[in-house]
Amino acid sequence: MISFEKMTVNTMKTSINKLKPLSFSRNSNQEISIAGFKLKDLVQTYGSPLYILCEETIRARVNEYKDSFQEFYGEYELVYASKALNCKAICKLMEKESVSLDVVSIGELYTALSVNFPMNKVIFHGNNKSPEEIQACLENNVRIILDNFNDLRLIDELNKSKKEVNIIIRVTPGIECHTHEYIKTGKIDSKFGFNLEDVLDLVAKLKKDYPYIKILGLHSHIGSQIFEMAPQRDAALVLLNKYKEIKEQLGIEMTHLNIGGGLGIKYLESDDPPEIADIVNFSAKAVIEACEKFDLKKPILMMEPGRSLVAPAGITVYRIGNIKDIPNLRKYVCVDGGMADNVRPIMYQAQYLAELDAKDPNKDLETVTIAGKYCESGDVLIKDIKMTKADTDDLLVVFSTGAYNYSMASNYNRATKPAMVLVNRTGHNLIVKRESLDDLLRQDLVPSHLS
Ligand SMILES: Cc1ncc(COP(=O)(O)O)c(C=O)c1O
Repeated sequence: MISFEKMTVNTMKTSINKLKPLSFSRNSNQEISIAGFKLKDLVQTYGSPLYILCEETIRARVNEYKDSFQEFYGEYELVYASKALNCKAICKLMEKESVSLDVVSIGELYTALSVNFPMNKVIFHGNNKSPEEIQACLENNVRIILDNFNDLRLIDELNKSKKEVNIIIRVTPGIECHTHEYIKTGKIDSKFGFNLEDVLDLVAKLKKDYPYIKILGLHSHIGSQIFEMAPQRDAALVLLNKYKEIKEQLGIEMTHLNIGGGLGIKYLESDDPPEIADIVNFSAKAVIEACEKFDLKKPILMMEPGRSLVAPAGITVYRIGNIKDIPNLRKYVCVDGGMADNVRPIMYQAQYLAELDAKDPNKDLETVTIAGKYCESGDVLIKDIKMTKADTDDLLVVFSTGAYNYSMASNYNRATKPAMVLVNRTGHNLIVKRESLDDLLRQDLVPSHLS
């Protein structure tokens, strides 16, 4: 394994690395607007809770990735990991921005198909793909991230005509990343991907026994909400070491290198993730240097961010109802949503910033706990936040909710999922309708002996 000197990265552009959506503003009455549209009016039109997405923020973040790849690398493919937020409008927005799509289920693929997303720009992930999913990839010429031998078995069984199938092999690179630290290990306990040591044999086997399979390259994804730049760079170098071995021993040169997603974002003002430009620059430099050193052709560099493209664009607006003050213990401020629309706090103690609409966020501060309305004591969105004194009927905004909120939403307690609105300077558009009570019943059946 080669090692690289610590690189310094110096990006002079104005940062878009903000916690709040770029079009967020407050007027002199402290009323909040997104792209010039008042929250209060949006909630009046679409109801609450309400997911709001700032289009300007998504486009700015997409463009920072694209510009950085152009400036620092060359041929690249920016792939949006749509598990972060997948719906028709977001697929269309990514298509308009010439961004590819990473899908992990037939449902995500079906959504992309429904809006004619170009299938040659889709990659399909998963550690346990179903026959139906592999079949859909084959029918639509979607590139498959080969994760295991079961994928290979299914491809071979279902690809009756033995037409060309493009794959990228997912490996565990031996780099484990937690948000603020990472470790390099020989083996990783992961359900995803092939062991790095097995890759050379695998490539040889594919070449010999599966001539219709075209191997584009290797893939690794080391984690999510990552604040360091070195782990992804190191994972890229691990893969390039393998490219060198593959070239030397098998005479095969890979055309693509996919280094996954995972760049972190600000949930709290104290969070300090790298700039998009810096992470691209840092990884790109390392890849270029390694390719020169190993005498490899520079591959098309693929990254597949999810959170860092959409999370900061999203806010969720709730209406405050009950306020329960337990003297000398805790004040609960209860909202009309909770774990059904944002499972991250209860699932992995995720932290968020929140503010009230139409109240100065710096005045009248007290420590409260923002509680959801669902029947779990743990349904708390934010524990012990210092916030302006809230009253019943106030609107509360939770920031950074554009990723892994709607996509992880549930119908727990038979909650109806909130609506989602995409806002830009020219208007606001409903992109996901609020579920109705009838939507909840749509799949229910009563057997005749009970009716
Ligand atoms: C394989 C793969 N790629 C990309 C992503 C996107 O990660 P993030 O949203 O942190 O950028 C994930 C997230 O789990 C993933 O598993």
